[in-house]
Amino acid sequence: MEKPNYGNWVPTKLLILLACGSAAMLALLILTLCFHLSWIWVILSALVLVITLGMFTYMFSFHKKLSFEKGGLMGKVHAFVADHLPWDGKGKLLDVGCGAGALTTRAAKRFPEAQCHGIDYWGAGWDYSLQMCERNAKAEGVADRCHFQKGDANHLDFPDETFDAVVSNFVYHEVRNNPDKEALICETLRVLKKGGSFALQDLFGQKSIYRDFDVTVARLKADGIVSEIHYVKNSEKEIGLPEWMAIPGMLADIGLIYGKK
Ligand SMILES: C[S@@+](CC[C@H](N)C(=O)[O-])C[C@H]1O[C@@H](n2cnc3c(N)ncnc32)[C@H](O)[C@@H]1O
Repeated sequence: MEKPNYGNWVPTKLLILLACGSAAMLALLILTLCFHLSWIWVILSALVLVITLGMFTYMFSFHKKLSFEKGGLMGKVHAFVADHLPWDGKGKLLDVGCGAGALTTRAAKRFPEAQCHGIDYWGAGWDYSLQMCERNAKAEGVADRCHFQKGDANHLDFPDETFDAVVSNFVYHEVRNNPDKEALICETLRVLKKGGSFALQDLFGQKSIYRDFDVTVARLKADGIVSEIHYVKNSEKEIGLPEWMAIPGMLADIGLIYGKK
């Protein structure tokens, strides 16, 4: 039986790019030494080599720790979302920005009566695809209850109140064409039934993306968009991410909101 392949949030193509950059810099350094070029060139190429090699080593370790086959942290991050979804598993669930379908299939396995839907725009930035999601659902034995389609988190192609539960992980900050992250969250909640359950995780603590997320949480409640909401700050600590991975620009300031509409 085929094994699932959920890819990695540090794509292999980035590692290849960094490895090639390091190799090119090493070649340049050797050339500068062989041809007795000025010391400026030697120092410059050595410096860039150290930087690219450092970046490669860091990203390679990051990739290994995240991977489902090795460190398993991607699975732990998804489990954290699923663990917080206050749902009995009866009805339909939507995973917004499902990537390779890892959270969708996890939900399908956790909630054996649920029909699980995943949407993603599957752009060029990621190695994910509709076919990959379908293969993964088959490999996990949940293909009959997992349904995937192309879609945009900005405008979900579903009528209001379609789903009994909605989940999303690390997607809204990736929606580059929409700086209004609150609007994206509201769009996800639009397709959730009144009384339905949600668990949404992203870099909510990163002020450059979300400004003050406490204000957003308060507004969702005050405007009656949700009836119950809990905000877990710095979930990276509860998930158990090592400190060297939880640095600004990487997996720091993760937040999770969960509750009922
Ligand atoms: C970091 S990946 C997370 C994937 C998945 N949720 C997971 O936890 O493994 C970000 C995902 O967001 C998706 N994405 C970015 N912008 C999107 C949009 N406007 N609509 C739907 N998906 C989007 C990307 O295609 C990618 O799959």
